[in-house]
Amino acid sequence: MDEEPSVAVISRRERLDPDLERIASASLRQLGDIRIDDVLSFIDRGIENMPSYMDLYRRWESQQWAVGDLDFTLDRQDWLESSDLDRKATLWSHRLFFNGEERVTATLAPFVWAAPTPEIEVFLSTQMVDEARHTVFFDRWWREVVGTEARDMKDLLAEIRPDTNEGYNTLFYDRLPSTAQRLASNPKDFDAFVEGVTIYHIIVEATIALTGQRFELESMRELDLTDRGFYRGFTAIARDESRHVSFGIKVLQEAVRENPARYAPLIQKTLVECLPLVAGTLDPPDPRYITEFGHTESEILQFAFDSLNKRLRAIGINLAA
Ligand SMILES: [Fe+2]
Ligand SMILES: [Fe+2]
Repeated sequence: MDEEPSVAVISRRERLDPDLERIASASLRQLGDIRIDDVLSFIDRGIENMPSYMDLYRRWESQQWAVGDLDFTLDRQDWLESSDLDRKATLWSHRLFFNGEERVTATLAPFVWAAPTPEIEVFLSTQMVDEARHTVFFDRWWREVVGTEARDMKDLLAEIRPDTNEGYNTLFYDRLPSTAQRLASNPKDFDAFVEGVTIYHIIVEATIALTGQRFELESMRELDLTDRGFYRGFTAIARDESRHVSFGIKVLQEAVRENPARYAPLIQKTLVECLPLVAGTLDPPDPRYITEFGHTESEILQFAFDSLNKRLRAIGINLAA
């Protein structure tokens, strides 16, 4: 039985306006009625009124969802009826996402070890569970919608690993693991922590993943597919990502406030190195993978860089400096 929360519990909880509360507490089924742009508005709200690390932890507690609750029956029917081009476009995107979710699951543990405070350590532990769940989401989608002979996740990941994209390879197989390795070797290296959060939370999650999610979910909405298991699960993933991105903004904002001369240039340098990899990752091997769904590559890149600039303003730096 649910007990009435005590006054102390109520006062510790974030106060959200009714529209945001609806998104914050939506079930998987209700997420089908929610637009990705409204989910992303959480990050912008955070920029005006930053949640604490424990606020983000409490959001995680109340925003649990299970891959096992999704139903991919309609998704499978769509797949069987889809054109060759549709399938190629979907596989291109989902290979990047599935492999990417596994890569970010694998590389987050050193960040937990290197966390400068217990609150940050606690939040990052919730994020590890989220990334594992996102990986499982794609594993299940692949098995039930596309189908595969792969016996286990290792074999399936080897089968789907993206092989044509240099930007992606450099980011996920060089920059991200080497930063994680630096943190594992020296968890007290706060410069490495700042650089790692810039790559992980700002480049990979805020700029690349949320942009890809936004356009794919919008395309599904335009095709009236919001009751599909994939739409609901991917929207739940975006809501998880909005917490991760808010966390990353907060860490970097605090670092820049504490020591702008040290951390602003470090974040800027990391971003400048990674920006070509953003464009490289979002660039499809066939432009029709985007134009076929009523969008353009330049529109997607514009959205990615506009999002990045918003995050940077919140952190307190600009790229032109
Ligand atoms: Fe994720
Ligand atoms: Fe994430």
